[in-house]
Amino acid sequence: MEKLGIYVHIPFCIKKCSYCDFISYEQKYDMVKSYVQALLEEIRQEAKKFKENIIDTIYIGGGTPSSIDSKYIIEILEELYKNFKIQEDAEITIEVNPGTVEKEKLQDYKKVKINRISIGLQSTNNEILGQIGRIHNYEKFIETYKLIREVGFNNVNIDLMLALPKQTVEILEESVKKVIDLQPEHISLYSLILEEGTGLYKKYNQGKITLPEDDTERKMYWNTKKILEGAGYIHYEISNFAKKGYFSKHNMNCWKQKQYIGFGVAAHSFINNVRTSNTIKLEDYIKSKNKEEIKKIEEKLNEEDLMKEYMILGLRKIEGVSIQEFKTKFIKNPLYEFRNELNKLVEQGMIEIDTDSIKLTNKGLDFANIVWEEFI
Ligand SMILES: C[S@@+](CC[C@H](N)C(=O)[O-])C[C@H]1O[C@@H](n2cnc3c(N)ncnc32)[C@H](O)[C@@H]1O
Ligand code: SF4
Repeated sequence: MEKLGIYVHIPFCIKKCSYCDFISYEQKYDMVKSYVQALLEEIRQEAKKFKENIIDTIYIGGGTPSSIDSKYIIEILEELYKNFKIQEDAEITIEVNPGTVEKEKLQDYKKVKINRISIGLQSTNNEILGQIGRIHNYEKFIETYKLIREVGFNNVNIDLMLALPKQTVEILEESVKKVIDLQPEHISLYSLILEEGTGLYKKYNQGKITLPEDDTERKMYWNTKKILEGAGYIHYEISNFAKKGYFSKHNMNCWKQKQYIGFGVAAHSFINNVRTSNTIKLEDYIKSKNKEEIKKIEEKLNEEDLMKEYMILGLRKIEGVSIQEFKTKFIKNPLYEFRNELNKLVEQGMIEIDTDSIKLTNKGLDFANIVWEEFI
């Protein structure tokens, strides 16, 4: 039976960052207790459907999971351990924001076997951090990073962003080098997506800020890739780099179209080829007694949908889509199923095909959206 991943959403933040449109609520900490009660109830109800499955990854994301009392994180994990068969060496990640943890909190995470920490830094430049509404400066981040190491976490990711307002290739390069000096096992590098409705989007449309041009954004990406690879990090997915042996299992499972269960407000699940999502309304999520009521089917994927999505997700990996793995999963040959799309993309220089893989070329990395279009 296929192994499953678990995602738990903690939708609370101290302050909303100006670029972020993840479902997270600013300063609603009076609702944490009832939210966690609802989460525990959802875990108990859902677990009945998955008695036989083994869980190989758990990801506690947000929002800012580290901003709530660690007793709640303990309760959530204990409930998961009680209701699911969790693999002994499961990868268990929690997202931590700089300045929201002290030693005891991190020790509590260790007690419930959290073994991977993902810290959102975004930039080491304090002016930029202020501009995008972060609650911390670089110095606060360093304190948090040191604490995390002191407590003994040996699998740490740092999130960086590129194409931020006022960011230049040189400023980003400085951030990347400072991060490399800390030797995290994993680095995620996200290009800013200007999301409608965010503070940054409004400011941009009012002409109050400028953003790096597209060619500068690409220069930032390639320069960072070169520096990280030079420092021994393996570029394994469009936005992700890691030391050998530290690719994120949670991420890899997503790109391999593995199944997962999402708990909490706005969480998504993907089970038996059906994608469902939970309500994004915090009050509705908390109130509902039967958690089936707050779930909505987003899409039921037929075989063709699944194959197309498998290509899009798989091409995000730098190693690309394994032709053999595709054949094993679908009993079909991707070179035949997508012959027109693949021929076109090869001619455009976007992808290359070798004996067992179909992968993006450097040009394809720059124009990934055009590649995805072929499989939508
Ligand atoms: C789910 S967020 C939460 C992480 C954590 N709360 C934090 O802010 O440090 C995970 C990461 O997504 C990235 N992110 C969020 N909004 C983004 C956007 N609009 N464009 C690009 N990356 C974004 C940031 O790097 C962030 O650290
Ligand atoms: S980036 Fe992180 S801290 Fe900022 S609003 Fe989004 S989830 Fe909250």
